[in-house]
Amino acid sequence: MDGAHSHEKAQMAPHATEIYGRLGEAVFWRIARAFYARIELQGELRPMFPRELEEPIRNQAEFLIQYFGGPTSYSERKGHPRLRMRHAQFAIGVRERNAWVACMEGALTDAAVPEPERAVMSKYFADTATFLMNADT
Ligand code: HEM
Repeated sequence: MDGAHSHEKAQMAPHATEIYGRLGEAVFWRIARAFYARIELQGELRPMFPRELEEPIRNQAEFLIQYFGGPTSYSERKGHPRLRMRHAQFAIGVRERNAWVACMEGALTDAAVPEPERAVMSKYFADTATFLMNADT
């Protein structure tokens, strides 16, 4: 294979369910911890979350591990993710959506998620956060 071709292949976006196998488990815990460290400092979003963030960190890490192709501990513990339903109790307008995505983008940087996996994860987060909007704010 020539150099240009192998470079192109190395940059091909993996499918979401391949990411756990490519990056391993630890990065997902780094993302969840970094995300909630940012939520802790985020004035608008912080009040939506419980005072103790250990449980949300675990929910987020296990959910992401499952979504990106790893073990299914999230659903064994909590059942089907039903993200729309689980977010219905929070008013999520464009402001909340954008603030959430900004915290997650920062967390992906803090956790040193490499390309090309990062681009796949960023797109998933942007699209899913839009899908979860349920209010005009
Ligand atoms: C890509 C977008 C998102 C994903 C993948 C996601 C994922 C999750 C997951 C898996 C949980 C845990 C639910 C449970 O097991 O009980 C959760 C909880 C929560 N989410 Fe999201 N979420 C997203 C966007 C948002 C947005 C935009 C907001 C609002 C700003 C938000 C606010 C919350 C809050 C307040 C909780 C409760 C904390 C907890 O009990 O774990 N989420 N989210």
